[in-house]
Amino acid sequence: MDIGIGLFGLGTVGSGVVKILQENAEQITKRTGSRLIVKHAVVYNLAKERTGFVKNFPITNQATDILDNPDIQIVVEVMGTLDQAYDIIKRSLNAKKHVVTANKDLIASRGQELVSIAEKNGVDLFFEAAVAGGVPILRTLSTSFTADEISRVAGIINGTSNFILTQMASNNLSYANALKLAQDKGFAESDPTNDVEGFDAAYKLIILSNFAFGVQPVLGDLAITGIANVTDADITDAHAFGYVIKLLGVAQRVGSTKEAISIEVSPQLVPLTHPLATVHNENNAVLVNGESVGEVMLYGPGAGEMPTANSVLSDLTNVATDLALNTPGHPFNSFNQDLDLAKPSQRIAR
Ligand code: HSE
Repeated sequence: MDIGIGLFGLGTVGSGVVKILQENAEQITKRTGSRLIVKHAVVYNLAKERTGFVKNFPITNQATDILDNPDIQIVVEVMGTLDQAYDIIKRSLNAKKHVVTANKDLIASRGQELVSIAEKNGVDLFFEAAVAGGVPILRTLSTSFTADEISRVAGIINGTSNFILTQMASNNLSYANALKLAQDKGFAESDPTNDVEGFDAAYKLIILSNFAFGVQPVLGDLAITGIANVTDADITDAHAFGYVIKLLGVAQRVGSTKEAISIEVSPQLVPLTHPLATVHNENNAVLVNGESVGEVMLYGPGAGEMPTANSVLSDLTNVATDLALNTPGHPFNSFNQDLDLAKPSQRIAR
């Protein structure tokens, strides 16, 4: 079977997606039974020169070239905007096209609405690349913890801030130079404020909390502190006492009967002997504590072209499998739970 793909966005992640689709085409077909073919890409900047892989299909700036194309079954949204991406995804789902997106801000803020639209239309909406780049945490949470009760999800989920903190600690780089390097390497968001002020990690933690606990928090339910005020002296002092400073996202059950979920992003002191202390540069790691399994840690590249593109590909191949089995339309994360969200003032110290 041939499956047509329409790409919204051909930036860092979009180009990576095209590369993997073209370089690993044979393997993908062998494993899914389908040929995944990019039929069209829509971009903002038509004038930008695009070389190599991305020349094998038409590129325009008209959304309808994809939305009205009956040969396109899957829309990949990697534009990184909010309102336009929302509009494109909603229209795609209503046109009964499956959607794969890496858009964490959008999924964190309007994900439930889009999931309902996907369900109503019997199509898939997957977003593995929205959280922790190349680390397959969402699919792991949605498939491997179904029978377990999760008590805590915690980790390093912003590559840019982890890169900055690592470079400041290990290479004595100033905060500004480390940030510039992260931007040059393509890890940072177009506006790095979200990375360094903790909002990027907060969006990811909202999605993780939904998958781990079935809750639907909004940004205001979280306590958020970024790394912008971490000084060289803080880093040196921490090290002298056997700690490293890491920006952590932590969502956990709190209260006497563990009836509420506390969700927080903040720089924290991590003992040098703890596994999270060994997570350097743009790498991410997520610890999941389950009542039955104990503690599990997933570690890997949290940002960058090819790792993030690989997560998009995992979604694309899952859609292909659903199409082959005739089972699309099941929500990525299907449970909702009636748990309280602890307001920042009710949090208890760990
Ligand atoms: N800016 C993000 C980060 C990219 O640094 O983690 C991946 O979401």
